[in-house]
Amino acid sequence: MARVLLGVTGSVAAIRTPALLAQLRHAGHDVKVVATQAALYFFDPAELAPSGDQRRGVLIVDEDEWPGRAEGRRYQRGDPVVHIELRRWAEVLVIAPLDANTLAKLACGLADNCLTCVWRAWESARPVILAPAMNTLMWEHPLTRRHLAQLAADSGLEPPAGLDRDGVIAWINAHCRRLRIVPPQAKALACGDVGMGAMAEVEAIVAAVNADLGIPDRHTGPCGPFGKGPPANVAGPNGAGQEQ
Ligand SMILES: Cc1cc2nc3c(=O)[nH]c(=O)nc-3n(C[C@H](O)[C@H](O)[C@H](O)COP(=O)(O)O)c2cc1C
Repeated sequence: MARVLLGVTGSVAAIRTPALLAQLRHAGHDVKVVATQAALYFFDPAELAPSGDQRRGVLIVDEDEWPGRAEGRRYQRGDPVVHIELRRWAEVLVIAPLDANTLAKLACGLADNCLTCVWRAWESARPVILAPAMNTLMWEHPLTRRHLAQLAADSGLEPPAGLDRDGVIAWINAHCRRLRIVPPQAKALACGDVGMGAMAEVEAIVAAVNADLGIPDRHTGPCGPFGKGPPANVAGPNGAGQEQ
């Protein structure tokens, strides 16, 4: 079991955050959630920690990086730097859903919120699991392939030039020790389009976490660290739902 930092970005699939948190906890993991401002549009923080007092322990938002800023307070020597504290705490970083905007930021190194600061400060030996979710045309845009290939290159291995987007994902999952992509699935999306781009099922994401940690999973069966991982593009029992 591991300390899992769950990053959540501004995709409709962020409505699954309470379910994903619950399933990661059910699998025995200690989980904290770091959400972007846009992500907070899609779920109620109260669903993560019924007692408001506990929110800080479970959900971290950008304001937590700058305590008291609105009231004119300034940084005091010795104050914790939240994104560094989170990076120290976490053994695994999961970003689910990973929207197109944050994917681009990860690929380019922009660090303008707590989650992207964690990414920039991440210790390279620790695993990262990314579950993209976006509209079909966003997913099919050449930028997606370019950004995913950049993530692989930044993890130390350059994918072969001729690979298409799905080839890059397969190549990353086969070759990059610390980086795993849980591919999206085809669905009727919340925006009304039908096609690839919906976030993988929660079960597949939890299975990817467990696979990276070498924990046998009821969906994937036994597998070692960085083993075969979850099946790609497999819609779960809710596969017909409308969601990115
Ligand atoms: C209702 C709604 C749904 C959205 N769904 C997605 C989505 O599924 N995937 C995506 O990449 N962007 C989606 N977006 C756009 C992102 O929320 C937007 O790019 C935002 O700036 C992302 O910020 P973040 O990456 O900091 O979370 C959606 C926007 C809205 C208003």
